[in-house]
Amino acid sequence: MSKTFYVTSPIYYVNDKPHIGHAYTSVACDILARAMRMFEYEVFFLTGTDEHGLKIEKTARSNKIDTKEFVDQVSLHFKEMNTKLNISNDDFIRTTEERHKETAQKVWTKLKENGTIYLDKYSGWYAVRDEAYYAETELVNGKAPTGADVEWIEEPSYFFNLSKWGDRLLELYEKNPNFIQPDSRKNEIINFVKYGLKDLSISRTTFKWGVPVPNDPNHVMYVWLDALTNYLSGIGYCNNEELFNKFWPANVHMIGKDITRFHTIYWPAFLMALDLPVPEKVFAHGWWKIEGEKMSKSLNNVVSPIDMVDKFGVDQVRWFMFRGFPFGNDCDFCNDKVTNMVNSDLADNIGNLVHRSLSMIIKNCSGKVPSNNYNQIETDDNEFINKLYNIDLNDLENKFRNCQFYEIANDIMTLSTNTNCYMNIKAPWKLRKENNEKMEYVLYNVLEAVRHIGIMSRSFIPRSADIILDYLKVPVNERTFCNLKREYALNPGNNIENNIVPVFQKF
Ligand code: MSP
Repeated sequence: MSKTFYVTSPIYYVNDKPHIGHAYTSVACDILARAMRMFEYEVFFLTGTDEHGLKIEKTARSNKIDTKEFVDQVSLHFKEMNTKLNISNDDFIRTTEERHKETAQKVWTKLKENGTIYLDKYSGWYAVRDEAYYAETELVNGKAPTGADVEWIEEPSYFFNLSKWGDRLLELYEKNPNFIQPDSRKNEIINFVKYGLKDLSISRTTFKWGVPVPNDPNHVMYVWLDALTNYLSGIGYCNNEELFNKFWPANVHMIGKDITRFHTIYWPAFLMALDLPVPEKVFAHGWWKIEGEKMSKSLNNVVSPIDMVDKFGVDQVRWFMFRGFPFGNDCDFCNDKVTNMVNSDLADNIGNLVHRSLSMIIKNCSGKVPSNNYNQIETDDNEFINKLYNIDLNDLENKFRNCQFYEIANDIMTLSTNTNCYMNIKAPWKLRKENNEKMEYVLYNVLEAVRHIGIMSRSFIPRSADIILDYLKVPVNERTFCNLKREYALNPGNNIENNIVPVFQKF
Protein backbone atom coordinates (compact mmCIF):
# COMPACT_ATOMS: atom_id res chain seq x y z
CA MET A 1 0.00 0.00 0.00
CA SER A 2 1.55 3.30 -1.01
CA LYS A 3 -1.06 5.88 -0.08
CA THR A 4 -0.57 7.12 3.48
CA PHE A 5 -2.55 9.42 5.72
CA TYR A 6 -1.50 10.86 9.09
CA VAL A 7 -4.13 12.45 11.33
CA THR A 8 -3.61 13.73 14.86
CA SER A 9 -5.78 14.93 17.71
CA PRO A 10 -4.43 17.46 20.18
CA ILE A 11 -2.89 15.82 23.20
CA TYR A 12 -5.16 16.51 26.14
CA TYR A 13 -4.11 18.17 29.38
CA VAL A 14 -4.40 15.75 32.24
CA ASN A 15 -5.39 18.30 34.85
CA ASP A 16 -8.96 17.01 34.70
CA LYS A 17 -11.15 14.21 33.35
CA PRO A 18 -12.29 14.28 29.70
CA HIS A 19 -15.40 16.24 28.71
CA ILE A 20 -17.52 16.38 25.59
CA GLY A 21 -15.13 18.87 23.91
CA HIS A 22 -12.24 16.40 24.11
CA ALA A 23 -14.43 13.55 22.87
CA TYR A 24 -15.55 15.70 19.95
CA THR A 25 -12.03 16.25 18.59
CA SER A 26 -11.17 12.59 19.02
CA VAL A 27 -14.31 11.37 17.26
CA ALA A 28 -13.68 13.82 14.41
CA CYS A 29 -10.20 12.32 13.95
CA ASP A 30 -11.67 8.85 14.21
CA ILE A 31 -14.28 9.46 11.50
CA LEU A 32 -11.56 10.77 9.23
CA ALA A 33 -9.13 7.95 10.03
CA ARG A 34 -11.74 5.25 9.45
CA ALA A 35 -12.88 6.90 6.22
CA MET A 36 -9.35 7.15 4.85
CA ARG A 37 -8.81 3.47 5.69
CA MET A 38 -11.97 2.78 3.72
CA PHE A 39 -10.37 4.65 0.80
CA GLU A 40 -7.49 2.19 1.19
CA TYR A 41 -4.95 4.55 2.67
CA GLU A 42 -2.48 3.32 5.21
CA VAL A 43 -3.55 5.51 8.10
CA PHE A 44 -1.75 6.56 11.25
CA PHE A 45 -4.01 8.18 13.82
CA LEU A 46 -2.22 9.59 16.84
CA THR A 47 -3.74 10.88 20.05
CA GLY A 48 -2.47 11.14 23.61
CA THR A 49 -2.00 13.27 26.68
CA ASP A 50 -0.11 16.47 27.45
CA GLU A 51 1.29 15.91 30.92
CA HIS A 52 3.80 18.66 31.68
CA GLY A 53 3.55 22.29 32.68
CA LEU A 54 2.71 24.44 35.63
CA LYS A 55 -1.05 23.90 35.38
CA ILE A 56 -0.66 20.16 35.90
CA GLU A 57 2.00 20.49 38.57
CA LYS A 58 -0.28 22.87 40.50
CA THR A 59 -3.34 20.63 40.14
CA ALA A 60 -1.44 17.59 41.39
CA ARG A 61 -0.17 19.61 44.32
CA SER A 62 -3.65 20.80 45.24
CA ASN A 63 -4.83 17.19 45.08
CA LYS A 64 -1.90 16.29 47.36
CA ILE A 65 -0.68 13.59 44.99
CA ASP A 66 2.73 13.01 43.54
CA THR A 67 2.70 14.60 40.08
CA LYS A 68 3.69 11.47 38.17
CA GLU A 69 1.11 9.40 40.00
CA PHE A 70 -1.50 12.04 39.23
CA VAL A 71 -0.77 12.15 35.49
CA ASP A 72 -0.72 8.35 35.34
CA GLN A 73 -4.21 8.29 36.80
CA VAL A 74 -5.78 11.01 34.68
CA SER A 75 -4.18 9.78 31.49
CA LEU A 76 -6.06 6.52 32.03
CA HIS A 77 -9.36 8.41 31.87
CA PHE A 78 -8.48 9.54 28.36
CA LYS A 79 -7.69 5.99 27.35
CA GLU A 80 -11.02 4.95 28.82
CA MET A 81 -12.73 7.69 26.79
CA ASN A 82 -11.17 6.26 23.63
CA THR A 83 -12.42 2.76 24.36
CA LYS A 84 -15.86 4.04 25.22
CA LEU A 85 -16.15 6.10 22.03
CA ASN A 86 -14.73 3.36 19.81
CA ILE A 87 -11.73 5.48 18.81
CA SER A 88 -9.41 3.61 16.44
CA ASN A 89 -6.14 5.39 17.23
CA ASP A 90 -2.93 3.66 16.17
CA ASP A 91 -0.90 4.98 19.08
CA PHE A 92 -1.33 6.96 22.27
CA ILE A 93 1.55 9.23 23.15
CA ARG A 94 2.18 10.61 26.63
CA THR A 95 4.62 13.48 26.98
CA THR A 96 6.08 11.90 30.11
CA GLU A 97 7.27 8.90 28.09
CA GLU A 98 10.96 8.54 27.39
CA ARG A 99 10.46 8.39 23.61
CA HIS A 100 8.76 11.76 23.77
CA LYS A 101 11.30 13.45 26.03
CA GLU A 102 14.11 12.30 23.77
CA THR A 103 12.32 13.79 20.78
CA ALA A 104 11.62 17.09 22.48
CA GLN A 105 15.29 17.34 23.45
CA LYS A 106 16.42 16.42 19.95
CA VAL A 107 14.17 19.15 18.58
CA TRP A 108 15.63 21.64 21.02
CA THR A 109 19.19 20.70 20.14
CA LYS A 110 18.46 21.03 16.44
CA LEU A 111 16.77 24.40 16.84
CA LYS A 112 19.82 25.53 18.82
CA GLU A 113 22.25 24.23 16.19
CA ASN A 114 20.26 26.03 13.51
CA GLY A 115 20.78 29.28 15.40
CA THR A 116 17.13 29.91 16.22
CA ILE A 117 17.39 29.82 20.04
CA TYR A 118 19.11 32.34 22.32
CA LEU A 119 19.26 32.97 26.08
CA ASP A 120 17.82 36.19 27.52
CA LYS A 121 15.43 37.34 30.24
CA TYR A 122 11.64 37.23 30.10
CA SER A 123 9.35 39.63 31.81
CA GLY A 124 5.66 39.68 31.00
CA TRP A 125 2.22 38.18 31.54
CA TYR A 126 1.57 34.45 31.69
CA ALA A 127 -1.77 32.63 32.01
CA VAL A 128 -1.29 29.25 33.68
CA ARG A 129 -4.73 28.02 32.60
CA ASP A 130 -3.89 28.62 28.92
CA GLU A 131 -0.17 27.93 29.39
CA ALA A 132 0.29 31.01 27.19
CA TYR A 133 2.14 34.33 27.23
CA TYR A 134 0.17 37.50 26.53
CA ALA A 135 1.27 40.99 25.57
CA GLU A 136 0.11 43.89 27.72
CA THR A 137 -1.98 45.12 24.79
CA GLU A 138 -3.85 41.82 24.59
CA LEU A 139 -5.14 41.91 28.17
CA VAL A 140 -8.82 42.65 28.76
CA ASN A 141 -9.63 44.10 32.19
CA GLY A 142 -6.41 42.70 33.56
CA LYS A 143 -7.10 39.17 32.32
CA ALA A 144 -6.10 37.10 29.30
CA PRO A 145 -8.44 37.50 26.29
CA THR A 146 -9.68 33.98 27.14
CA GLY A 147 -10.70 35.17 30.61
CA ALA A 148 -7.85 33.30 32.32
CA ASP A 149 -5.99 34.96 35.21
CA VAL A 150 -2.52 36.18 34.34
CA GLU A 151 0.57 36.54 36.49
CA TRP A 152 3.61 38.72 35.97
CA ILE A 153 6.78 36.69 35.55
CA GLU A 154 10.41 37.71 35.34
CA GLU A 155 13.02 35.05 34.84
CA PRO A 156 15.93 34.01 32.64
CA SER A 157 14.55 32.32 29.56
CA TYR A 158 15.55 30.88 26.23
CA PHE A 159 13.83 32.43 23.24
CA PHE A 160 12.91 31.12 19.81
CA ASN A 161 13.43 33.76 17.11
CA LEU A 162 9.79 33.71 15.99
CA SER A 163 9.98 37.33 14.79
CA LYS A 164 12.17 36.22 11.89
CA TRP A 165 9.57 33.80 10.52
CA GLY A 166 6.69 36.16 9.75
CA ASP A 167 7.30 36.42 6.01
CA ARG A 168 7.81 32.68 5.59
CA LEU A 169 4.56 32.06 7.46
CA LEU A 170 2.60 34.53 5.32
CA GLU A 171 4.03 32.88 2.23
CA LEU A 172 2.94 29.50 3.59
CA TYR A 173 -0.66 30.69 4.11
CA GLU A 174 -0.75 32.26 0.67
CA LYS A 175 0.66 29.27 -1.21
CA ASN A 176 -1.44 26.76 0.73
CA PRO A 177 -4.89 28.28 1.05
CA ASN A 178 -6.15 25.15 2.81
CA PHE A 179 -3.44 25.11 5.46
CA ILE A 180 -5.76 26.77 7.99
CA GLN A 181 -9.33 25.53 7.86
CA PRO A 182 -12.11 26.51 8.01
CA ASP A 183 -11.51 29.76 6.11
CA SER A 184 -13.21 31.78 8.82
CA ARG A 185 -10.24 31.21 11.13
CA LYS A 186 -7.63 32.21 8.58
CA ASN A 187 -7.90 35.99 8.63
CA GLU A 188 -7.37 36.32 12.33
CA ILE A 189 -4.12 34.39 12.09
CA ILE A 190 -2.90 36.26 9.01
CA ASN A 191 -3.58 39.59 10.71
CA PHE A 192 -1.80 38.50 13.84
CA VAL A 193 1.29 37.55 11.85
CA LYS A 194 1.13 40.71 9.73
CA TYR A 195 1.01 42.81 12.88
CA GLY A 196 4.50 41.53 13.66
CA LEU A 197 5.61 38.54 15.72
CA LYS A 198 7.68 38.75 18.86
CA ASP A 199 10.30 36.19 19.78
CA LEU A 200 8.82 33.43 21.90
CA SER A 201 9.94 32.50 25.40
CA ILE A 202 10.46 28.73 25.30
CA SER A 203 11.85 27.82 28.72
CA ARG A 204 10.95 28.30 32.37
CA THR A 205 13.11 28.17 35.50
CA THR A 206 10.59 28.54 38.31
CA PHE A 207 9.23 25.02 38.25
CA LYS A 208 10.54 21.60 37.35
CA TRP A 209 7.63 19.60 35.84
CA GLY A 210 8.75 19.53 32.24
CA VAL A 211 11.40 18.29 29.84
CA PRO A 212 14.83 19.55 30.95
CA VAL A 213 16.57 21.80 28.45
CA PRO A 214 19.62 19.98 27.05
CA ASN A 215 22.83 21.22 28.70
CA ASP A 216 21.00 23.65 30.97
CA PRO A 217 18.99 21.68 33.54
CA ASN A 218 17.89 24.83 35.39
CA HIS A 219 15.41 25.31 32.59
CA VAL A 220 12.48 23.16 31.52
CA MET A 221 11.04 23.46 28.05
CA TYR A 222 7.93 25.62 27.54
CA VAL A 223 5.00 23.20 27.64
CA TRP A 224 3.74 24.12 24.15
CA LEU A 225 7.09 23.46 22.47
CA ASP A 226 7.20 20.17 24.37
CA ALA A 227 3.58 19.33 23.48
CA LEU A 228 3.68 20.16 19.78
CA THR A 229 6.62 17.83 19.24
CA ASN A 230 4.32 14.90 20.15
CA TYR A 231 3.32 14.90 16.49
CA LEU A 232 6.91 13.91 15.70
CA SER A 233 7.64 11.62 18.64
CA GLY A 234 4.44 9.64 18.02
CA ILE A 235 5.73 8.51 14.62
CA GLY A 236 9.30 7.79 15.64
CA TYR A 237 11.25 10.97 14.82
CA CYS A 238 13.94 9.74 17.21
CA ASN A 239 13.75 5.99 16.92
CA ASN A 240 11.92 4.86 13.79
CA GLU A 241 13.12 6.57 10.66
CA GLU A 242 11.06 4.36 8.38
CA LEU A 243 7.80 5.12 10.15
CA PHE A 244 8.64 8.79 10.33
CA ASN A 245 9.46 9.09 6.65
CA LYS A 246 6.32 7.23 5.77
CA PHE A 247 3.94 9.52 7.65
CA TRP A 248 5.52 12.94 8.00
CA PRO A 249 4.26 15.56 7.12
CA ALA A 250 0.87 15.09 8.78
CA ASN A 251 -2.19 15.43 6.58
CA VAL A 252 -4.48 16.87 9.24
CA HIS A 253 -3.92 18.23 12.72
CA MET A 254 -7.44 18.34 14.16
CA ILE A 255 -7.79 20.92 16.94
CA GLY A 256 -10.28 23.19 18.71
CA LYS A 257 -10.36 26.85 17.72
CA ASP A 258 -8.74 28.04 20.96
CA ILE A 259 -5.40 26.51 20.05
CA THR A 260 -5.19 27.69 16.45
CA ARG A 261 -2.36 30.15 17.07
CA PHE A 262 -0.10 27.46 18.52
CA HIS A 263 -0.72 25.16 15.57
CA THR A 264 -0.67 27.61 12.70
CA ILE A 265 2.03 30.05 13.82
CA TYR A 266 4.39 28.51 16.36
CA TRP A 267 4.27 24.96 15.03
CA PRO A 268 5.02 25.67 11.34
CA ALA A 269 7.72 28.14 12.42
CA PHE A 270 9.38 25.47 14.60
CA LEU A 271 9.14 22.99 11.74
CA MET A 272 10.65 25.37 9.20
CA ALA A 273 13.43 26.09 11.67
CA LEU A 274 14.01 22.34 11.91
CA ASP A 275 14.07 22.07 8.09
CA LEU A 276 11.05 19.78 8.23
CA PRO A 277 8.05 20.02 5.92
CA VAL A 278 4.91 21.51 7.45
CA PRO A 279 1.57 19.66 7.74
CA GLU A 280 -0.98 19.84 4.96
CA LYS A 281 -3.85 21.15 7.05
CA VAL A 282 -4.82 22.35 10.48
CA PHE A 283 -8.57 22.12 11.00
CA ALA A 284 -9.88 24.13 13.94
CA HIS A 285 -13.39 23.17 14.99
CA GLY A 286 -15.83 25.14 17.13
CA TRP A 287 -16.60 24.92 20.81
CA TRP A 288 -19.33 23.15 22.72
CA LYS A 289 -21.68 25.11 24.89
CA ILE A 290 -24.17 23.48 27.21
CA GLU A 291 -27.72 24.73 26.71
CA GLY A 292 -26.29 28.04 25.55
CA GLU A 293 -23.89 28.43 28.47
CA LYS A 294 -20.14 28.10 28.57
CA MET A 295 -19.16 24.70 29.94
CA SER A 296 -17.39 25.09 33.26
CA LYS A 297 -16.85 23.43 36.57
CA SER A 298 -18.16 26.45 38.42
CA LEU A 299 -21.48 26.24 36.53
CA ASN A 300 -21.49 22.53 37.28
CA ASN A 301 -22.53 21.77 33.70
CA VAL A 302 -19.57 19.75 32.43
CA VAL A 303 -20.81 16.96 30.15
CA SER A 304 -18.94 13.69 30.48
CA PRO A 305 -18.66 11.72 27.24
CA ILE A 306 -18.63 8.51 29.27
CA ASP A 307 -21.99 9.31 30.87
CA MET A 308 -23.38 10.30 27.48
CA VAL A 309 -22.40 6.98 25.96
CA ASP A 310 -23.88 5.11 28.92
CA LYS A 311 -27.13 6.96 28.46
CA PHE A 312 -27.52 7.02 24.66
CA GLY A 313 -25.06 4.51 23.19
CA VAL A 314 -21.78 5.14 21.44
CA ASP A 315 -23.00 5.49 17.87
CA GLN A 316 -25.87 7.69 18.95
CA VAL A 317 -23.42 10.10 20.58
CA ARG A 318 -21.06 10.05 17.62
CA TRP A 319 -23.94 10.66 15.21
CA PHE A 320 -25.38 13.54 17.23
CA MET A 321 -22.03 15.31 17.37
CA PHE A 322 -21.48 15.35 13.64
CA ARG A 323 -24.96 15.42 12.16
CA GLY A 324 -26.07 18.00 14.69
CA PHE A 325 -23.79 20.89 13.68
CA PRO A 326 -21.65 21.88 10.69
CA PHE A 327 -18.09 20.93 11.59
CA GLY A 328 -16.19 24.14 12.26
CA ASN A 329 -19.12 25.94 13.89
CA ASP A 330 -19.83 26.11 17.61
CA CYS A 331 -22.18 23.46 18.97
CA ASP A 332 -24.74 23.37 21.72
CA PHE A 333 -25.48 20.37 23.89
CA CYS A 334 -28.91 19.62 25.24
CA ASN A 335 -30.32 16.20 26.20
CA ASP A 336 -33.57 16.75 24.28
CA LYS A 337 -31.65 17.54 21.11
CA VAL A 338 -29.75 14.27 21.35
CA THR A 339 -32.97 12.34 21.96
CA ASN A 340 -34.79 13.98 19.05
CA MET A 341 -31.94 13.49 16.64
CA VAL A 342 -31.21 9.88 17.42
CA ASN A 343 -34.92 9.08 17.32
CA SER A 344 -35.65 10.79 14.04
CA ASP A 345 -32.47 9.93 12.14
CA LEU A 346 -31.37 6.62 13.56
CA ALA A 347 -34.46 4.89 14.94
CA ASP A 348 -37.24 6.24 12.68
CA ASN A 349 -35.35 6.70 9.45
CA ILE A 350 -32.34 4.40 8.98
CA GLY A 351 -33.34 1.86 11.63
CA ASN A 352 -36.91 1.60 10.40
CA LEU A 353 -35.79 1.22 6.80
CA VAL A 354 -33.46 -1.64 7.70
CA HIS A 355 -36.00 -3.38 9.88
CA ARG A 356 -39.02 -3.22 7.63
CA SER A 357 -37.14 -4.16 4.46
CA LEU A 358 -35.34 -7.09 6.07
CA SER A 359 -38.50 -8.28 7.82
CA MET A 360 -40.34 -8.34 4.49
CA ILE A 361 -37.53 -10.26 2.85
CA ILE A 362 -37.35 -12.78 5.67
CA LYS A 363 -41.09 -13.34 5.43
CA ASN A 364 -41.62 -13.22 1.68
CA CYS A 365 -38.33 -14.14 0.00
CA SER A 366 -37.33 -17.15 2.12
CA GLY A 367 -34.82 -14.98 3.95
CA LYS A 368 -32.59 -14.69 0.88
CA VAL A 369 -31.45 -11.74 -1.20
CA PRO A 370 -34.43 -11.26 -3.56
CA SER A 371 -34.20 -11.63 -7.29
CA ASN A 372 -33.49 -8.54 -9.38
CA ASN A 373 -34.57 -10.24 -12.55
CA TYR A 374 -37.41 -8.04 -13.73
CA ASN A 375 -37.91 -6.52 -17.15
CA GLN A 376 -40.56 -3.88 -16.66
CA ILE A 377 -38.32 -1.41 -14.96
CA GLU A 378 -39.85 2.05 -14.59
CA THR A 379 -38.17 5.45 -14.83
CA ASP A 380 -38.19 5.98 -11.09
CA ASP A 381 -36.57 2.57 -10.52
CA ASN A 382 -33.84 3.50 -12.93
CA GLU A 383 -33.35 6.89 -11.35
CA PHE A 384 -33.17 5.35 -7.92
CA ILE A 385 -30.67 2.67 -8.81
CA ASN A 386 -28.51 4.94 -10.97
CA LYS A 387 -28.17 7.48 -8.20
CA LEU A 388 -26.99 4.69 -5.97
CA TYR A 389 -24.23 3.48 -8.25
CA ASN A 390 -23.20 6.92 -9.44
CA ILE A 391 -21.87 8.16 -6.12
CA ASP A 392 -18.76 10.15 -7.02
CA LEU A 393 -15.99 8.59 -4.93
CA ASN A 394 -13.48 11.38 -5.64
CA ASP A 395 -15.96 13.90 -4.44
CA LEU A 396 -16.64 11.82 -1.33
CA GLU A 397 -12.93 11.51 -0.59
CA ASN A 398 -12.48 15.27 -0.95
CA LYS A 399 -15.39 15.89 1.37
CA PHE A 400 -13.72 13.70 3.99
CA ARG A 401 -10.31 15.34 3.42
CA ASN A 402 -11.97 18.71 3.92
CA CYS A 403 -13.64 17.46 7.09
CA GLN A 404 -17.15 18.09 5.72
CA PHE A 405 -18.61 15.55 8.11
CA TYR A 406 -21.91 17.36 8.47
CA GLU A 407 -22.45 17.44 4.70
CA ILE A 408 -21.66 13.72 4.42
CA ALA A 409 -24.00 12.88 7.29
CA ASN A 410 -26.71 14.86 5.49
CA ASP A 411 -26.04 12.91 2.28
CA ILE A 412 -26.47 9.66 4.21
CA MET A 413 -29.79 10.87 5.58
CA THR A 414 -30.95 11.95 2.12
CA LEU A 415 -30.18 8.48 0.81
CA SER A 416 -32.09 6.86 3.66
CA THR A 417 -35.06 9.21 3.30
CA ASN A 418 -35.19 8.65 -0.46
CA THR A 419 -35.06 4.91 0.04
CA ASN A 420 -37.93 5.04 2.52
CA CYS A 421 -39.88 7.12 -0.02
CA TYR A 422 -39.08 4.68 -2.83
CA MET A 423 -40.32 1.84 -0.69
CA ASN A 424 -43.50 3.72 0.27
CA ILE A 425 -44.28 4.58 -3.36
CA LYS A 426 -43.56 1.08 -4.66
CA ALA A 427 -45.35 -0.52 -1.69
CA PRO A 428 -43.88 -4.01 -2.03
CA TRP A 429 -46.43 -5.24 0.56
CA LYS A 430 -49.12 -4.64 -2.08
CA LEU A 431 -47.06 -6.20 -4.87
CA ARG A 432 -46.80 -9.41 -2.89
CA LYS A 433 -50.21 -10.50 -4.09
CA GLU A 434 -50.27 -9.01 -7.58
CA ASN A 435 -46.69 -9.13 -8.89
CA ASN A 436 -44.17 -11.17 -6.96
CA GLU A 437 -41.33 -10.55 -9.42
CA LYS A 438 -41.74 -6.82 -9.09
CA MET A 439 -41.91 -7.07 -5.31
CA GLU A 440 -38.58 -8.93 -5.29
CA TYR A 441 -37.06 -6.37 -7.64
CA VAL A 442 -38.12 -3.44 -5.45
CA LEU A 443 -36.89 -5.16 -2.31
CA TYR A 444 -33.61 -5.94 -4.03
CA ASN A 445 -33.11 -2.25 -4.83
CA VAL A 446 -33.97 -1.30 -1.27
CA LEU A 447 -31.51 -3.88 0.04
CA GLU A 448 -28.78 -2.46 -2.17
CA ALA A 449 -29.54 1.02 -0.79
CA VAL A 450 -29.30 -0.40 2.73
CA ARG A 451 -25.89 -1.83 1.83
CA HIS A 452 -24.83 1.63 0.62
CA ILE A 453 -26.08 3.27 3.81
CA GLY A 454 -24.13 0.72 5.86
CA ILE A 455 -20.89 1.47 4.02
CA MET A 456 -21.41 5.23 3.84
CA SER A 457 -22.14 5.55 7.55
CA ARG A 458 -19.46 3.15 8.71
CA SER A 459 -16.90 5.74 9.75
CA PHE A 460 -19.52 7.68 11.74
CA ILE A 461 -21.37 4.82 13.45
CA PRO A 462 -19.02 1.87 13.01
CA ARG A 463 -20.75 -0.60 15.30
CA SER A 464 -24.27 -0.13 13.99
CA ALA A 465 -23.12 0.02 10.38
CA ASP A 466 -21.36 -3.30 10.81
CA ILE A 467 -24.48 -4.82 12.35
CA ILE A 468 -26.42 -3.71 9.26
CA LEU A 469 -23.78 -5.13 6.94
CA ASP A 470 -23.67 -8.33 9.00
CA TYR A 471 -27.45 -8.65 8.54
CA LEU A 472 -26.88 -8.49 4.78
CA LYS A 473 -23.94 -10.90 5.14
CA VAL A 474 -21.65 -8.52 3.27
CA PRO A 475 -18.15 -10.05 3.55
CA VAL A 476 -15.90 -8.05 5.91
CA ASN A 477 -13.45 -7.37 3.09
CA GLU A 478 -16.19 -5.79 0.97
CA ARG A 479 -17.06 -2.89 3.24
CA THR A 480 -14.88 -0.09 1.85
CA PHE A 481 -15.92 2.80 -0.37
CA CYS A 482 -14.81 1.09 -3.56
CA ASN A 483 -17.30 -1.69 -2.73
CA LEU A 484 -20.10 0.79 -3.32
CA LYS A 485 -19.80 -0.04 -7.00
CA ARG A 486 -22.28 -2.18 -8.90
CA GLU A 487 -19.86 -5.07 -9.29
CA TYR A 488 -20.04 -5.69 -5.54
CA ALA A 489 -23.84 -5.73 -5.50
CA LEU A 490 -25.58 -8.38 -3.41
CA ASN A 491 -26.13 -11.72 -5.14
CA PRO A 492 -29.75 -12.78 -5.44
CA GLY A 493 -30.32 -16.06 -3.67
CA ASN A 494 -27.60 -15.51 -1.07
CA ASN A 495 -28.69 -15.84 2.53
CA ILE A 496 -29.27 -12.83 4.71
CA GLU A 497 -29.45 -12.92 8.49
CA ASN A 498 -32.86 -14.16 9.55
CA ASN A 499 -32.50 -13.40 13.21
CA ILE A 500 -32.74 -9.61 13.42
CA VAL A 501 -33.58 -7.02 16.05
CA PRO A 502 -34.01 -3.26 15.49
CA VAL A 503 -30.53 -1.75 15.15
CA PHE A 504 -31.45 1.46 16.99
CA GLN A 505 -33.65 1.65 20.03
CA LYS A 506 -36.02 4.60 20.28
CA PHE A 507 -35.76 6.92 23.30
N1 MSP B 1 -2.74 20.32 25.69
C1 MSP B 1 -3.24 21.27 24.78
C2 MSP B 1 -3.12 20.79 23.35
C3 MSP B 1 -1.74 20.46 22.92
S1 MSP B 1 -1.68 19.84 21.30
C4 MSP B 1 -0.09 19.81 20.91
C5 MSP B 1 -4.70 21.56 25.09
N2 MSP B 1 -5.34 20.64 25.78
S2 MSP B 1 -6.86 20.74 26.28
O1 MSP B 1 -7.11 19.51 26.98
O2 MSP B 1 -7.07 21.94 26.99
O3 MSP B 1 -7.74 20.84 25.02
C6 MSP B 1 -7.69 19.85 24.07
C7 MSP B 1 -8.71 20.07 22.99
O4 MSP B 1 -10.02 20.10 23.51
C8 MSP B 1 -8.50 21.38 22.25
O5 MSP B 1 -8.59 21.14 20.86
C9 MSP B 1 -9.67 22.22 22.70
O6 MSP B 1 -10.06 23.09 21.71
C10 MSP B 1 -10.72 21.17 22.93
N3 MSP B 1 -11.74 21.69 23.80
C11 MSP B 1 -11.65 22.06 25.10
N4 MSP B 1 -12.85 22.54 25.50
C12 MSP B 1 -13.74 22.49 24.47
C13 MSP B 1 -15.11 22.75 24.30
N5 MSP B 1 -15.87 23.25 25.24
N6 MSP B 1 -15.65 22.45 23.09
C14 MSP B 1 -14.92 21.89 22.08
N7 MSP B 1 -13.64 21.63 22.22
C15 MSP B 1 -13.00 22.03 23.36
O7 MSP B 1 -5.20 22.58 24.67
